[in-house]
Amino acid sequence: MNFEPSEIQKDIQTMTREFAAKELIPNARKWDEHHEWPAEAVKKLAELSLLGVAVPEKWGGAGLDNVCYALAMEEISRGCASTGVIMSVNNSLYSDPIMKFGTDAQKEKWLAPFARGEKLGCFGLTEPQAGSDAAAQQTVAVKKGDRYVINGSKNWITNGPKADAIVLFTMTNKEAGHKGITPFIVPTDTKGFRRMPPDKKMGISAAWSCTMYFEDMEVPAENMLGKEGDGFKVAMSTLDGGRIGIAAQALGIARAALEEAVRYSGERKSFGKFIREHQAIQFMLADMATEIDAARLLVHRAAVLKDKGVRHSQESAMAKLYASEMASRVANKALQVFGGMGYSKEMDAERHVRDARITEIYEGTSEIQRIVISANMLKD
Ligand code: CAA
Repeated sequence: MNFEPSEIQKDIQTMTREFAAKELIPNARKWDEHHEWPAEAVKKLAELSLLGVAVPEKWGGAGLDNVCYALAMEEISRGCASTGVIMSVNNSLYSDPIMKFGTDAQKEKWLAPFARGEKLGCFGLTEPQAGSDAAAQQTVAVKKGDRYVINGSKNWITNGPKADAIVLFTMTNKEAGHKGITPFIVPTDTKGFRRMPPDKKMGISAAWSCTMYFEDMEVPAENMLGKEGDGFKVAMSTLDGGRIGIAAQALGIARAALEEAVRYSGERKSFGKFIREHQAIQFMLADMATEIDAARLLVHRAAVLKDKGVRHSQESAMAKLYASEMASRVANKALQVFGGMGYSKEMDAERHVRDARITEIYEGTSEIQRIVISANMLKD
């Protein structure tokens, strides 16, 4: 057991921390307030090779490990949670399944430009009637010669309004249930592909998501990702990795809340002393710091297992469950440290509460994580 990061892991942490301090923290409140897509920041993520962190260099990525990815996700999300999830979707949900299940020709065309950050990807699993029950896909793909005709819709697709391509899950054989699901890589300029304006959300307001519709949309059979009917496993194993990214995002949000609470506690006075001199505040800060460290250990354990190529469904679910609920607790406590000012839009404390909340919902709600954990614990 070794808790010491490698030199490259330390370098990534320092580089992303500096980037967040310079480019993200000064802008995050403005982007949130105006629901503004952080275009410049996304461009710089690409320049820093952060849009394909664990993708091999051969396919346009940085060729680093998943611990580097988790460290970078934490720092970027510490600066701006919206930028964090934009990064996470391109890395974990779009690039990772193509890396694992794509052919070399698909990687050349659909992975390399995305890992280099020249293009942006998204992941289409969620539908109005298939959220937690991901196997209940209603989007249908029907074979027609060497093409598939796709009809249906997806919603809450993060990066959807800006994406150049989507890993799109469809039902190719309804009778087969979860064994009838098949993903395709679909460019968003395909005829019959229509997207709605960005969703209005409680938090992560600068990370745009949208509903999209597919009407008689024809996709070449060569764009199928993996084998026909294997899509549910593609989705689940992708989410095993994605949940590490979201858990690291939650860590970053919690760190932002804690660091700001620590600073404020040394500026604000009550009863004739700085509030950090009151034990009530000291205990809150101690609990927050302890919970963040506990969550980080879970996140890094899951990342190490992913790097080893070991199945890590349970460890990722534990990391996501604990880190997301921890982030909400920590962000709420930080707001409490700020008192009335915490409720003001002039401070970032309320944004961290709103941003933390989504981490308990997307890429599987806390209830889904508990299903995954208990199912893995109790299987024969
Ligand atoms: N890896 C590989 N295979 C897996 C797997 C995994 N992690 N998990 C399950 N499978 C396999 C099982 O082995 C089983 O295979 P067989 O049929 O060969 O035995 C098959 O998949 C079915 O498994 P289950 O019976 O466990 O499936 P289920 O229907 O009970 O569903 C679930 C399980 C955990 C509830 C799943 O539906 C789930 O994770 N739901 C949540 C979906 C989700 O997270 N959506 C988020 C959308 S993306 C998003 O949020 C993006 C964003 O905005 C940022």
